[in-house]
Amino acid sequence: MTDRSRSILDYRQLASTYDASCKRIGHIREAAIDALVLQPGQTVVDIACGTGATLLELSERVGPEGKVIGIDHSPEMVEVARQRVSLSTAKNIELLVEPIESACFNGKADALFFCFSHDVLQSKEALRNIFSSTSCGARVVTVGTKLLTSWWAGPLNSWIHWRGRRYRTTEQGLAQPWKPLQEYCPDIRITNTFNLGTSYLAEGTFTTYITDH
Ligand SMILES: C[S@@+](CC[C@H](N)C(=O)[O-])C[C@H]1O[C@@H](n2cnc3c(N)ncnc32)[C@H](O)[C@@H]1O
Repeated sequence: MTDRSRSILDYRQLASTYDASCKRIGHIREAAIDALVLQPGQTVVDIACGTGATLLELSERVGPEGKVIGIDHSPEMVEVARQRVSLSTAKNIELLVEPIESACFNGKADALFFCFSHDVLQSKEALRNIFSSTSCGARVVTVGTKLLTSWWAGPLNSWIHWRGRRYRTTEQGLAQPWKPLQEYCPDIRITNTFNLGTSYLAEGTFTTYITDH
């Protein structure tokens, strides 16, 4: 079970130093954005966008006719994102301070981007809500931390749990974080790994939406 109240409190404290603490994952985010294969004019949702590290690049990819919607439940994280956007020339970014579980926006998403958003992936309500506003055929890309399954990985996995303790509120599903997406994207699969396999990139297509959950 994820704990949204705890997450909001944790990110209240993390917001001011978050960007500095994530400098080493720039190449992973970049590969994930490439995997979206965004087209000009599309609408992409940056799920749990945090401080908006990926917003400007997404904005470039969809161009002035497209739209980027960044959603996050932490007001402090989104405030940093707002400042980032206001210092840029981008005019196609909308920011929402809302839980993914109940967020709503105009129109439908052509692409969904889950970048280091483990808690959201493990929330059935969040996935149900966001996919209800997503066009069939949308590309879905997720990138984040995962556990290793090799026999020798114990110490590394302990480090992963310790390092992530303030960045996520559940360790559930950390061996295959993308798995809950299979319900919506049956073809979701890992296409790349990074940092000894402790980070993954998975890609898929939204093809099914089951309404009787
Ligand atoms: C590790 S940060 C990732 C931020 C950003 N995507 C990035 O790549 O830097 C996780 C973010 O998820 C947000 N978050 C966690 N659960 C959420 C939920 N249920 N609804 C909205 N945001 C959520 C947190 O507030 C935090 O900003």
